[in-house]
Amino acid sequence: MSSASSGRASSPVVPAQADGTKPAVNKTVRAFAVASLVANIGIVVTGGAVRLTASGLGCPEWPLCTPDSLTTTPEMGIHGIIEFGNRLLTFVLAAVAFAMVYSVWKIRAERRDLFKLSIALLAGIPAQALLGGITVWTGLNPWIVGGHFIVSMVLIVLATILVNRAWLSPQQVASTNGPLATRTLRPLLGALGVLSALSVVLGVIVTGSGPHAGDHGAARNGFDPDLVTRLHVVPVYLLVFALVVALYLVYRHAADGRLRSSLLLLTVVVIIQAVIGYTQHFMHLPILLVGLHMLGASLLTAAAAHVVFTGFSRQVPGTDPVARQAGAAASRRG
Ligand code: HEM
Ligand code: HEM
Repeated sequence: MSSASSGRASSPVVPAQADGTKPAVNKTVRAFAVASLVANIGIVVTGGAVRLTASGLGCPEWPLCTPDSLTTTPEMGIHGIIEFGNRLLTFVLAAVAFAMVYSVWKIRAERRDLFKLSIALLAGIPAQALLGGITVWTGLNPWIVGGHFIVSMVLIVLATILVNRAWLSPQQVASTNGPLATRTLRPLLGALGVLSALSVVLGVIVTGSGPHAGDHGAARNGFDPDLVTRLHVVPVYLLVFALVVALYLVYRHAADGRLRSSLLLLTVVVIIQAVIGYTQHFMHLPILLVGLHMLGASLLTAAAAHVVFTGFSRQVPGTDPVARQAGAAASRRG
């Protein structure tokens, strides 16, 4: 018997007869989904702390820290403690990922979406640990460090989808209707996703050309930092433009409230991130602001994924705001 129909209090699926507008899975699943997102954003900040304190080679070897010690030694000093501390956080991330998989294990047949996303997040950890190791082996090659950062952004997108899917109601899970966003809005939402990704990728190239290499002797990618910074802000401007148009359309057509609030959230994050970006640029990249910009990039990635997910999620019968408006107008006429 499926856990959905058994209706036991411990079941990860809320009984089918419960309110169809409430989330279809229980609080534990939702809490671990949020924890997965928080942990994946958190390690970007701590990874950034490694780079920005020039501790990238605090442990000069991988998988051991030094040629003959798994852990950091007193000779490695504060940089060793910072780099090794970040390696240890991998286990915190792994614990959260295992807990997430365990929480959806019983419902893996009926919620394959949640199960697959949880497995992908778990698989991302050894992949990142290996890439982190290659980062060390290559003496902090900027392209490898950039790749390590981008893989984390992909994991943040997956974790955001997981959170969104964990909040779907039984009605939404079962719905076969079209997407929430109108036909005009959908390409615009796609553009928001692409422009956010482009801003992130070009930002990583700016970092690779800049002063914060993770170690004083590490190589740089050789681009002119001012030129790549100018290129980095091009998709940012386009993103702001696309956001203004999208907001105009959702307000004009009284689109679903969830789509409106997800777009507003993205707008706020983009504005804060752009202010941090310009301030750090003109202040010659103080590490605290660069760290905040990395946090901002993670939040922006999550906010953009949330917008795209919301716009492309299926409508529930009777909740289409455009149809509701048309219906109300027709009944007034009648
Ligand atoms: C609003 C959208 C923006 C996004 C999504 C974004 C994203 C990023 C990302 C992902 C990085 C690389 C972080 C890393 O690899 O550690 C970065 C670096 C950078 N960004 Fe942005 N950024 C945005 C706006 C701006 C703006 C408006 C400026 C203004 C000049 C700016 C200036 C910089 C600079 C100077 C760096 C290099 C920092 C370093 O040396 O590490 N960014 N950005
Ligand atoms: C044993 C495993 C790991 C090792 C050896 C490792 C190694 C490193 C090193 C050396 C840096 C600093 C790069 C620099 O100084 O330029 C770093 C940064 C970073 N790490 Fe890891 N890492 C590991 C695991 C992970 C995991 C599991 C994640 C995420 C899932 C992750 C995400 C990051 C991020 C986002 C950064 C910041 C990159 C940037 O500043 O652009 N790391 N890591």
